[in-house]
Amino acid sequence: MNLSAYYTPTKIVFGKGAEEQVGALIRERGCRKVLLHYGGGSARRSGLLDRVERSLEEAGVAYVSLGGVVPNPRLSLVYEGIRLARNEQVDLILAVGGGSVIDSAKAIGYGAATEGDVWDYYTGARKPEACLPIGAVLTIAAAGSEMSNSSVITKEEGGLKRGCNNDLCRPAFAVMNPELTLTLPAYQTACGCADILMHTMERYFNHGDNLELTDGISEALMRTVLRNALVLKDHPENYRARAEIMWASSLSHNGLTGFGTDGGDWATHKMEHELSGMFDVAHGAGLTAIWGSWARYVCQNRLDRFMHFALRAMQVGPGEGMEQTALRGIQAMEDFFRSIGLPTSLSELGISPTDEQLEQMAESCIQAVGGRPLGTVKPLTAQDVAAIYRMAR
Ligand code: NZQ
Ligand code: ZN
Repeated sequence: MNLSAYYTPTKIVFGKGAEEQVGALIRERGCRKVLLHYGGGSARRSGLLDRVERSLEEAGVAYVSLGGVVPNPRLSLVYEGIRLARNEQVDLILAVGGGSVIDSAKAIGYGAATEGDVWDYYTGARKPEACLPIGAVLTIAAAGSEMSNSSVITKEEGGLKRGCNNDLCRPAFAVMNPELTLTLPAYQTACGCADILMHTMERYFNHGDNLELTDGISEALMRTVLRNALVLKDHPENYRARAEIMWASSLSHNGLTGFGTDGGDWATHKMEHELSGMFDVAHGAGLTAIWGSWARYVCQNRLDRFMHFALRAMQVGPGEGMEQTALRGIQAMEDFFRSIGLPTSLSELGISPTDEQLEQMAESCIQAVGGRPLGTVKPLTAQDVAAIYRMAR
């Protein structure tokens, strides 16, 4: 078993009407002025922003607003947010939206609390030493940023998408009303379910010795998401299924399903970040487009875990021997992705990178992890990564 730490400082308020408590939650922390950060319009259209603003006003919390966060959030808006947060002397960043808005809020929180260029934290040139407190009102179950230590930002110049992982940015609180996700387009719901699955799968596929309890929690989480994603495909209005998926989103990425492991593999995520950096695709769909190719490329190194995944998470019957069972599990996951309308290849994702672009992305993946091999199940060189991208075509 690996040495592990588990730190989850985020207070969760979950259920119908939860967003009405946001003002009180901020006052409880002694904060008086917030930067209200949101996306491209869904939160305004649904009436959510009005309710949040009312809650702030009733609690006597002043606010300045900055909307316009796009999926794969951009560095330029982060800089604008830092300027605003400093000028207005806010003491908390309140994100109303999904992973993109929360990640942008975290980056603003770093930049407003420290000196120098915030992008340095994303290239790994420097480590952040402070972050303003972050609060989240979650509107899409997907990235898990509402409890995670991660923030992923795209620098427009060069299409560089990079993450910064640090406990300082874990939100102080997250307000989660599953009803807020009822307005999601089916594609976004599906992308979210895939991302939630992947956050546990990235940890489940590792090169260490696992705790039985962590495996059991992970397998139950994956089965719950598989089942409820199918419910939502036919009944998007189903509140119970929305609630199961929303809670899974947080638990899948707050460290719980990686406890006691070597941290996991994460090669699929790094490869996807290159795809969405270059082609601006939805994160969840980018993951499903490459996961099967990654899994087939590396599975010989951990046939035992791929077999457990097949039997316990995907619940397929055993094949003749470990390898056949492992491959059945991979196939079952790809079938599932397709059944909820997600791609399992780059062409289904709607992109056709040239050989040169594939090699550029592969090199960039390796650079993003400091020039070391990528992943743990089978440590990958740039040539391996390029081969997986080619398999995914
Ligand atoms: O901008 P609006 O109009 O709000 O539209 C958004 C956006 O177009 C829409 N949406 C969100 N809630 C909605 C809604 N539409 C209707 N009704 C609602 N209730 O959905 C679209 C996608 O939103 P986004 O925030 O981009 O989705 P998601 O939560 O999947 O976040 C994706 C980003 O998170 C990063 C990804 O790389 C990507 O940049 N990740 C962040 C992680 C983290 N911080 O821990 C981990 C992940 O692995 C991931 O890398
Ligand atoms: Zn993800």
